[in-house]
Amino acid sequence: MGNNMIAYFNGQFVSKEDVKISPDDRGFLFADGVYEVIRSYGGRLFKVDDHLSRLSRSLGELRMAPVSLAHLKTVANQVIQRNNLENEDATLYIQITRGVAPRKHPFPDIETSPTVYVSASVLPPSHGEWEKGIAVILVPDLRWGRCDIKSVGLLPNVLASQQAKERGAGEAVFVRDGVITEGSHTSFCAVFEGQLVTHPANHHILAGITRRVVLDLCVTLGIPFRESPIPERNLTGASELMVLGTTSEIVPVVRVNDWMVGDGKPGPISAKLKRAFGDLVAA
Ligand code: PDD
Repeated sequence: MGNNMIAYFNGQFVSKEDVKISPDDRGFLFADGVYEVIRSYGGRLFKVDDHLSRLSRSLGELRMAPVSLAHLKTVANQVIQRNNLENEDATLYIQITRGVAPRKHPFPDIETSPTVYVSASVLPPSHGEWEKGIAVILVPDLRWGRCDIKSVGLLPNVLASQQAKERGAGEAVFVRDGVITEGSHTSFCAVFEGQLVTHPANHHILAGITRRVVLDLCVTLGIPFRESPIPERNLTGASELMVLGTTSEIVPVVRVNDWMVGDGKPGPISAKLKRAFGDLVAA
């Protein structure tokens, strides 16, 4: 697996190795493109419509041509099937760029077709992140003012993530103007006096699908929550911290830089949410 994967590229299903991306692709030259990562549980794409509507919104915000979401959904399911991933946990990756054109900053000719790429990967089993929790580091949020767009321009995220890795942490969490925004590839939430708090879904964060699922679970489970900025200086007062995302699902944070969260073990609200999330996925 991995070597002989089938991908979708500009209208065709081909061996992943045979995908040829032009050096003039605006995704390559300018990171002029958007993407989605969707989880597949036993061959079923989780919250696929939510991911596709976010993709459509990202395209719109960047004034890229709309795509048929119905077609993309069919393609997504085909990529799962053609790679025999019906019984596996996998991730599906979709990327759309503004297409191939001579390198000039303004948008290319209106006839330029977008580059559309869809692939799948088997998800390696987790390494006990849930049971033990992870450490995170706090890093300055060096990203632009439109983090709500899921653009492939991820350099600040890459640098932050590498910093976390080098310091033995599982995620880097961004701080902008003294406020916690989100992780390099996850949403972030904290529990203060039994209430779950997460950054409002504005231009400073990605409106995470997992974040939305968790907030909906809070309603179902009767866990109070609010969407408001978390000042960095208040973080030590949290009883629990979590990162949320398509690949991570819900992962408790038990250490921040060099201090321990609560008693250093995953807390009860994380456990409750994790269980309910598992039920939802299984349903
Ligand atoms: N990352 N915030 C950022 C900056 C992200 O890149 C992601 C997802 C999330 C969580 O969103 P969701 O719950 O919709 O996956 C939050 C994807 C998985 C990635 O880049 O691999």
